[in-house]
Amino acid sequence: MKAIILSGGKGTRLRPLTYTGAKQLVPVANKPILWYGIESIVRAGVTDIGIIISPETGEEVKAKTGNGDRFGANITYILQEQPAGLAHAVKVARPFLGDSPFVMYLGDNLIQNELGQFMTNFKEQHMDALIMLRPVSNPTAFGVAEVDAQGRVLHLVEKPKVPPSNLALVGIYFFANTIHAAIDRIQPSARGELEITDAIQNLIDHKNHVEARQIEGWWLDTGKKDDLLEANQIVLDTCLQSAILGEVDARSQISGRVQIGEGSKLINCTVRGPVVIGNNCHLENCFIGPYSSVADEVTLIDADLEHSVILRGAKVVGIQQRIVDSVVGQRAQLKLAPQRPKALRFMIGDDSQIELA
Ligand code: TTP
Repeated sequence: MKAIILSGGKGTRLRPLTYTGAKQLVPVANKPILWYGIESIVRAGVTDIGIIISPETGEEVKAKTGNGDRFGANITYILQEQPAGLAHAVKVARPFLGDSPFVMYLGDNLIQNELGQFMTNFKEQHMDALIMLRPVSNPTAFGVAEVDAQGRVLHLVEKPKVPPSNLALVGIYFFANTIHAAIDRIQPSARGELEITDAIQNLIDHKNHVEARQIEGWWLDTGKKDDLLEANQIVLDTCLQSAILGEVDARSQISGRVQIGEGSKLINCTVRGPVVIGNNCHLENCFIGPYSSVADEVTLIDADLEHSVILRGAKVVGIQQRIVDSVVGQRAQLKLAPQRPKALRFMIGDDSQIELA
């Protein structure tokens, strides 16, 4: 069994962060989203992993993630010149995959369930494809499946106007080598992409064995800001362990599960977990409320935040109102004058969103 993780794509819905970086490297609880997928695949016993990368962000993904040693895996990087669709990514990965069965994981997805049981089902029942489904309230935004009582997939449709069910396709799939012939038989969709849903539908039309399983645990697709904040909240809630490695002065108060990295200093701060603070941060006179992730080398002075993600090297100074539901990009600076400001001075990147609520 091999694995491919799709870490190319355009990431338009997570702009402006994706102008300068790969969306799969945006951290959830201070760890790149992509790494959760790698770890989950390795836990299921698959260590031969191909990562699909784009020309724009591939080098960054490679430099950060490495050859797989840190995960106990062997990682091969596979360049996809154009984001021409999920099935196109499988086509590009064909030389790496050979005739091996494989698990395909979208690099911006996270699921709570372990993959092992699904993989065993897939192998023992000699399926051509096994897909994961989860009920959603807005199926028109997803690939949707119609399934019979035995779990066999009857029909798949991408972003339907009239959904046949409320079961959305989760971004994790198991395939036998028969998927390659199906991909060769399909044409690009109206949006110009080779769709994996069309390839799976083609397997069904050719009487191949395609099954689905519903997942019970959470599923997060971190492609948008609010999804990213939700992922951060759920992962902090379920996975964070307390560990205080940095320095916390006597005037600071820490409660709940809180992680503070090496070289970080907290002076006169109140931190209410779950909260993760990275390495070499400087925090002074701050309130850091639940579900906040502060990456390495961040400076927060006279700031008050909650349910927010602050990326590496950012600086927030003198913002007395509470910052909520916010994502602050790498090295971004947010400062307010000590007195009520007479004017606001901005240098805001393309596609940024600022809401003075
Ligand atoms: P999407 O989130 O569907 O696409 P996208 O990354 O282009 O994002 P947006 O819609 O915001 O522009 O892709 C799911 C995952 O698959 C994501 O990790 C990117 C990756 N991907 C590829 O590697 N190659 C591709 O051709 C496509 C379409 C996506």
